[in-house]
Amino acid sequence: MLEQEPSRTAWMAATHRAAHQVLERGLIFSDPLALRILGQDAEAVARDALAHPERRGMRAFIAARAHLAETALAAGVEQRGVSQLVVLGAGLDTFAYRNPLADRLRVFEVDHPATQAWKRRRLDEAGIAIPADVVHAPVDFEREALLDGLAAAGLDLAGRTFFIWLGVVPYLTPEAVRATLTAIGSLPGGAEVAFDYADPPAALSAEARAAHRVRAERVAAVGEPWLSYFEARPLHAMLTELGFAEIEDLNPRGLAERYWPGAASGAPERGGHVVLARTA
Ligand SMILES: C[S@@+](CC[C@H](N)C(=O)[O-])C[C@H]1O[C@@H](n2cnc3c(N)ncnc32)[C@H](O)[C@@H]1O
Repeated sequence: MLEQEPSRTAWMAATHRAAHQVLERGLIFSDPLALRILGQDAEAVARDALAHPERRGMRAFIAARAHLAETALAAGVEQRGVSQLVVLGAGLDTFAYRNPLADRLRVFEVDHPATQAWKRRRLDEAGIAIPADVVHAPVDFEREALLDGLAAAGLDLAGRTFFIWLGVVPYLTPEAVRATLTAIGSLPGGAEVAFDYADPPAALSAEARAAHRVRAERVAAVGEPWLSYFEARPLHAMLTELGFAEIEDLNPRGLAERYWPGAASGAPERGGHVVLARTA
């Protein structure tokens, strides 16, 4: 990440969510604030997305991961007593500003300081109110201890906590990923996490590897290179070692089966995954 600059990839992810509202009418993931927080009109967002048909797969992935995470969060609140949400590497995520569980769920947003300051300006310019109990905690995952930052921000370490950590793992070093999962897994009140990761490019088909290279070059060019890839089996072993008892991992085929079944038979097993994991 560039130290003083807001995350450009956060902007890109937000444009995918907005384009999904316009082009697919939020079919997989409905977010009434997705366009507003960008400050762009629907036509401009649609025009840009349609000019890049090769980005359609990423748009679908981003919609699916958000829907999975928010569905698991709701189940955590309803069934397992989750009372706090931490959106890690929040970017322009809007959950905190349209929280349907606000009476039972306190929200903390954690992000790199420059991105968080930019988001607050975007919210202000878009006229989106920040609810009084939403907390913004600036933390650099590569340099600071996450739990120290969260405790200082007022997180109750003894309360059950859900972490939405989407679109962030690839941008961190493997050491920072492990440190973050260690912190989450160690919470005395219990924790649940939704995150996504990618298989190593060498595991992809030649065609998928070429598409991956284009995307990797795009994010590296804006100063946010991909630094981490994981194989499912060792990742699951690490999660188990760190105290996660329930682990669900949806690979591209699993995501397709759930969200666009017509395309499932042609979907690969390797590529982008979404993980839902929780401690006892
Ligand atoms: C691709 S964006 C995803 C944003 C958001 N989660 C979403 O899905 O739209 C990556 C996010 O990770 C954050 N990030 C990357 N490296 C970070 C670090 N070392 N410390 C804190 N945040 C970081 C960026 O600021 C950015 O918000």
